[in-house]
Amino acid sequence: MEMNRNIVLVGLMGSGKSTVGQALSAKLGWTYVDTDSEIVRSQGMSISDMFAKLGEEAFRKAESEIIGNVLKRSEQVVSTGGGAVLLELNRLAMKENGFVVALFASVETIIERVKGDQSRPLLQGHLEERVKHIAKSREHAYDFADLKVDTDGLPVDRIVEIICSRIG
Ligand code: S3P
Repeated sequence: MEMNRNIVLVGLMGSGKSTVGQALSAKLGWTYVDTDSEIVRSQGMSISDMFAKLGEEAFRKAESEIIGNVLKRSEQVVSTGGGAVLLELNRLAMKENGFVVALFASVETIIERVKGDQSRPLLQGHLEERVKHIAKSREHAYDFADLKVDTDGLPVDRIVEIICSRIG
């Protein structure tokens, strides 16, 4: 039994967490929380600036704190950053306080969605190489999820339905 009733969305950058999360929260009447936005708000700087000025490790620390705090509350749809699953501490907080849904999309779909985006520091450089490398290195990072949804070809409404049908 989870301590708090939340749905936590995990998945690679560009897998659709924000879009699905907002639609899902509207459908359930639950609060929508985007942990990246919460980090930006609490640190008072963009994610790119945080990576550049403080480094990835400081970002991960801030991310863990935000995840821990957000998950003290209930009835939220929480969209997390793609790398939030890398720390066991975060995975445990997610599992303990919510139903974890992993969204998957093909590398082609992800590239299409994130191209031209300057706000994601890990995608600067050769985009296709970066996405393929991150997808490979995180191949099993989302295995801990309670539900895995392959989103390619599915409209947002359908993805929301699939998730709703599983939360009872
Ligand atoms: C990251 C994903 C980003 C953001 C940061 C690092 C990652 O979030 O947290 O740029 O390590 O995959 P999105 O998945 O919302 O793009």
